[in-house]
Amino acid sequence: MDYKNILTEIKDGILYVTLNRPKQLNALNKAVFSEFEAILNDAENNDEIKGLIITGSGEKAFAAGADIKEFAHFTVEQGKELSANGQRIFKKAEIFKKPIIAAVNGFALGGGLELAMACHIRIASDNARFGQPEVSLGVTPGYAGTQRLTQLIGKGKAIELLMTGAMIKADEALKLGLVNYVVPQKELISKSEDIMKTILQQSPVAVAGVIRCVDAFFTDGIDGFKTEVEEFGKCFGTEDFKEGTDAFMNKRKPDFTGK
Ligand code: CAA
Repeated sequence: MDYKNILTEIKDGILYVTLNRPKQLNALNKAVFSEFEAILNDAENNDEIKGLIITGSGEKAFAAGADIKEFAHFTVEQGKELSANGQRIFKKAEIFKKPIIAAVNGFALGGGLELAMACHIRIASDNARFGQPEVSLGVTPGYAGTQRLTQLIGKGKAIELLMTGAMIKADEALKLGLVNYVVPQKELISKSEDIMKTILQQSPVAVAGVIRCVDAFFTDGIDGFKTEVEEFGKCFGTEDFKEGTDAFMNKRKPDFTGK
């Protein structure tokens, strides 16, 4: 895989995705979005890839938002299109069947925070900064920041951050439940790998089911409890279920195939 704005590398079943526009603090322009979508599409069908870790290039930024210079002269229609396309692609990440961890290594602002929130788990380095500063530019967030921030930290604090555009530090993001862990920057990737490796030892079929069940909780018109009944039931027909239960009864470690 060869992309201009994103670096990719596969190691031990993990696809490392590094947003790579460091001079622009990894701002998300159209090219980044189309490359990111292509990477997700490829990763979905590539059996070598079991999970993804997304980070930003350099020590300063995960991503400082949508590329302001690119959209500054957009029309109303172009603005809607930008938002709809970004939401569509980030939704793919949110319901991706393989685990995705955001390793937030610096600024995660606007679209950058929206990307991190679309990932399943967020690990932050201690220098990370979070915010939805769009109101300072005269826009609302457009890549589902108003929705996912509210889901993750609750209405009271989310609406404050969204209305003030304030930036918060990693320790406050941890207190709010916006990130799962905060670690020194040099430990960011190894902490993300530790969590990913624990997930990758579980049944990939069941992990994908968990992702769908949790997403169902937040999806209008879908009963998450019913989704859980379906997903639970489906597992009984899988090789992973036979392997997991057999391993338990024979006091050995399971070796899941994801089938
Ligand atoms: N878009 C385009 N370029 C950006 C950018 C962005 N979101 N964020 C930073 N850059 C560029 C800067 O323009 C600068 O480029 P030049 O050297 O060519 O001028 C370079 O990255 C370095 O940035 P700064 O000099 O500003 O670095 P700093 O350390 O002084 O400040 C910062 C860092 C506080 C993150 C500041 O860059 C900043 O406020 N950036 C914008 C953050 C923002 O408003 N994000 C929301 C974007 S809108 C959005 O995301 C909408 C949506 O939901 C869809």
